Amino acid sequence: VGPTPQPERLLAFSAVSKSLADTVVVPAGYTASVLFALGDPMTASTPAFKNDGTDGDFEQRAGDHHDGMEFFGLSAAGTPSASSAERGLLAINHEATTDEQRSSFFLHPTGGTTTLPRPGAEVDKEVALHGIGVIEVRKNGSAWQYLKESSFNRRLTALSDIELSGPARGNALLVTKYSPTGLKTRGTLNNCGTGKTPWGTFLTGEENWGGYFTRGSADDAARGNGKDVVSLKRYGRNQGATSRHGWETGGADDKYARWNISKLGASTDGSDDYRNEMNGMGYIVEIDPYDKAKAVKKRTALGRFAHESAAFSLPTAGQPLAVYMGDDSRNEYIYKFVSTATWSATDATPADRIATGDKYLDSGKLYVAKLNADGSGQWIELSLSNPLVAGYGAYKFADLGDIMVNARLAADAVGATKMDRPEWCSVNPKNGEIYFSLTNNSNRSVDPSGSSQLAPDSANPRAYTDMKGTSSQKGNPNGHILRMKEGTGGSAATSFTWDVYLFGAESTADSSKVNLSSLTADQDFSSPDGLAFSPYTGICWIQTDDGAYTDVTNCMMLAAVPGQVGDGGKVTLNHATAAGGTLAVDTYVGKKAAPDTLKRFLVGPVGSEITGIAETPDGKAMFVNIQHPGETTAQANLADPTKYTSQWPANAGYGAGKRPRSATIVITKNDGGRIGS
Ligand code: FEO
Ligand code: CA
Ligand code: CA
Ligand code: CA
Repeated sequence: VGPTPQPERLLAFSAVSKSLADTVVVPAGYTASVLFALGDPMTASTPAFKNDGTDGDFEQRAGDHHDGMEFFGLSAAGTPSASSAERGLLAINHEATTDEQRSSFFLHPTGGTTTLPRPGAEVDKEVALHGIGVIEVRKNGSAWQYLKESSFNRRLTALSDIELSGPARGNALLVTKYSPTGLKTRGTLNNCGTGKTPWGTFLTGEENWGGYFTRGSADDAARGNGKDVVSLKRYGRNQGATSRHGWETGGADDKYARWNISKLGASTDGSDDYRNEMNGMGYIVEIDPYDKAKAVKKRTALGRFAHESAAFSLPTAGQPLAVYMGDDSRNEYIYKFVSTATWSATDATPADRIATGDKYLDSGKLYVAKLNADGSGQWIELSLSNPLVAGYGAYKFADLGDIMVNARLAADAVGATKMDRPEWCSVNPKNGEIYFSLTNNSNRSVDPSGSSQLAPDSANPRAYTDMKGTSSQKGNPNGHILRMKEGTGGSAATSFTWDVYLFGAESTADSSKVNLSSLTADQDFSSPDGLAFSPYTGICWIQTDDGAYTDVTNCMMLAAVPGQVGDGGKVTLNHATAAGGTLAVDTYVGKKAAPDTLKRFLVGPVGSEITGIAETPDGKAMFVNIQHPGETTAQANLADPTKYTSQWPANAGYGAGKRPRSATIVITKNDGGRIGS
């Protein structure tokens, strides 16, 4: 007879201290191991990664900048199984690649060509580093491994063939030389946050795709200064914009030409050039991780913007499904899609998962959020039945497809609330409340100037002129976490209430102005980004992508057990204006986080962002991504590894070479318990 097992207590671990070490730190009693890093082979015949810039074949290797990630269980027989905790698939976003001067320098032998034109072979490699990957993982004894030879392994890149689905499918705005019918596009790009549908598919959000395209310096006139110019400007591509990597210069082939979105052809519909190519990026994309034969679909009904994650309302039989989404750019919006179809529990295990996606994600209503100063809010519909959209003067919407492709313009039309960069969102499994990371915003100012700056408001109440005496410390440098509670109607509600669950801050900052949540040294963080509730333990995991507190600590992950909307109270911030007056802003701060309801769990290596959260359904293995360690390395120092700002994961004993690599880690508890207990 052994000792009586103790009941599990969440957040019983000892908080991890802030750290500047080039390593992954987890609490005592936990183990973090590297599982799958940039360049790792994904077929039996792909050679091991040499990590010296000579490796190719990235269509068969792990891509770069691992980001959002979801776990999909497999039974012992290799069939989909929502309950399997020993075998499964990880679907992983590969968002971007580390570049200082145009080229992905860690992936070329001597850093690559930083001037134009770029060699086609370098471009081909960089395009293939982007997209998504699916790998099979298994528990082998107590250790997890990925299977390089699994037939489930799969890569999609920025050139893969993808279907357009929903209201914008076949729209004139999507006609290109590649798809004169506007039914398809090529590639998925800058894949950032993720989602998992109630029917077992993977959703990936396309975020900062605009920067990959170039546009000629006289393109406004070439396009006749029409509607499309209004759209391009609103989505950040002014004429003369240069591309991040210069991929358009790789050669004459259309696979390079498509990155130049200037109007070049004589057609009136865009079928002879790539003037509309950027309209094919910016969606939530659905992938069946279990079945390579099924079409990959961009779900245009969920709008086009800088998508982060996609979080579902708690499925209720007979009720529509809501999908919550953020547009991560400064002063952009929070959105909600509500399905026309109501949830049927039999769809949790469908025979055809992508057809189930057609049912729930192609038809419905898209809303944008307006947050009021009294803690209430409205979801405002974006369709021609809304007179504010139909009558908008700055852009005349032709149809629902046009509204989806230009969702930002439709949201402008209805006066939605401009937020401090909405990143990940997640739904609390306990009560259905919706959490959004608002990572930071350097364009929030008490004395706004120019068209890009905004005064603080109740939902985005902090704005500082100088917190540490550097330009990166202006506005709201530490970010906050907003939460919302739906009103009558649940997932289909058109009103909600909200408060701020947590304000990011340094623990030593003024608690009346900056550290409004009274964070302690074991809890303080800056720039929340990744955020996901565990459906198994109910813990809210918070990850950071920070540049404001990185003089003191590398980026981190915290575990939280939050209360609910309205459990705190109203606070008035009295901002001093330049003219000597006071700008008073009321806000609503959640109940102060006690030590046992918010604790730092992990700190990452130098220069990394912590992102992506996936768990096995027993809650005993957690997968997390370490994105771009050593990103702060100067390209000029490529030949001297001692000058890399990070050598992780090589310094953790993983793989060849010393060049830093993005990687998936797996975290387990040494006593076999659940993660976060
Ligand atoms: Fe890719 Fe908004 O983070
Ligand atoms: Ca992010
Ligand atoms: Ca971020
Ligand atoms: Ca990043």
